[in-house]
Amino acid sequence: MAEQLRIGIVGAAGRGRSFFGGFNAHPEARVHAVCDLNEEGARMVAAENGVERVYLDFDAMLDAGEVDIVVIGTPMPLHAPQAIAALERGVHVLSEVPAAVSLDECRALTQAAKRSAAMYMMAENYCYIRTNVLVRHMARAGLFGEMYFGEGEYIHELKGLNEITKWRRKWQTGINGCTYPTHSLGPLVQWFDQRVVSVCCFGSGHHYRDPRGDEYEQEDSIHMACRMANGGLVNIRLDMLSNRPHNMTYYSLQGTQGCYESPRGHGDRPKVWLQSRHDDPNAWHDLSDFEEEFLPDEWLHPSEEALRSGHWGGDYFVVADFLKAIVEGSQPPIDVHAAMDMTVPGLMSQQSIVEGYAWLDVPDSRGW
Ligand SMILES: NC(=O)c1ccc[n+]([C@@H]2O[C@H](COP(=O)([O-])OP(=O)(O)OC[C@H]3O[C@@H](n4cnc5c(N)ncnc54)[C@H](O)[C@@H]3O)[C@@H](O)[C@H]2O)c1
Repeated sequence: MAEQLRIGIVGAAGRGRSFFGGFNAHPEARVHAVCDLNEEGARMVAAENGVERVYLDFDAMLDAGEVDIVVIGTPMPLHAPQAIAALERGVHVLSEVPAAVSLDECRALTQAAKRSAAMYMMAENYCYIRTNVLVRHMARAGLFGEMYFGEGEYIHELKGLNEITKWRRKWQTGINGCTYPTHSLGPLVQWFDQRVVSVCCFGSGHHYRDPRGDEYEQEDSIHMACRMANGGLVNIRLDMLSNRPHNMTYYSLQGTQGCYESPRGHGDRPKVWLQSRHDDPNAWHDLSDFEEEFLPDEWLHPSEEALRSGHWGGDYFVVADFLKAIVEGSQPPIDVHAAMDMTVPGLMSQQSIVEGYAWLDVPDSRGW
């Protein structure tokens, strides 16, 4: 292995660009190559960041044999094929979400990750939102008791963006079901520390048309009910079409000994009630009261590099966890099975609608 881990970013003129902050903050790695079909964009990003190599073809970047890690920031249907191609060449993969767009792809990706000596991690950055990290540590410490209900909502009106990044019109709003589940489901899977065993999905009907006059195949507000392995229920709402302000980060958690609600906007603050800490059962308390006690030190006192890399340190810690796993040879926190736990329920939700809102079992990638 080279002295510094050499990174190649594919989709570098789009989302891939946002990974520079995280990698630039880690001296053990450097971005060596960028790849994008958009040559002008790729050259611009390379020049801005002092990157040596520019590729227009992903296989050419892999075949050159000069990168140890690829970051996949391309449109959704390319995630699994590009990840598999890299893993088969022994190149580590940090992939954008979701991990794949079909069950067959999920199976093939899981098998490729199991066969490869290289690491796979899904970059589910909403799991690295500071408040979500704090709730995870509090849940692990048992503060909520037995967890039995949760909610995750990704409400992000992007009809306009569908016309610019046209792949979204097919892979996100062109399919009925929870096509973009991981930002909402990911943190809840981590809090429950349970996988989803079955899903049932339904929607609110169709109320919008695209600029060509075609109805969006996806219903405006999609609801995916998830039965967790411990019997708990998690509701996921995905809404990429309704005319309204965004709220991409709404979450709630209910357990036998406490509950959490994130803000819905308009001045609200992240809040908890915990039976073991609070006398009045009708009074909320600020989640931030628990930072000192439950946030890991690197989150409580983030370094300058972490803060500079974006999202209050979130972008830094995704990369930090991934690099640590590679250097130590340990499993990354969102390894291929965790990625499947966050991705496969969404794929089964699409089938649930096809089968008349049936409850369908969610396959466990650990058996693949
Ligand atoms: N985690 C997050 O918060 C977050 C935010 C935005 C997007 N995303 C994900 O990132 C991915 C990209 O989204 P985006 O909004 O940047 O899309 P985009 O269309 O703006 O960018 C994708 C880039 O990939 C390039 N590309 C397409 N096919 C390619 C190929 N075969 N080889 C090389 N480059 C290719 C395009 O030219 C483009 O520059 C999506 O999967 C999306 O779901 C995640």
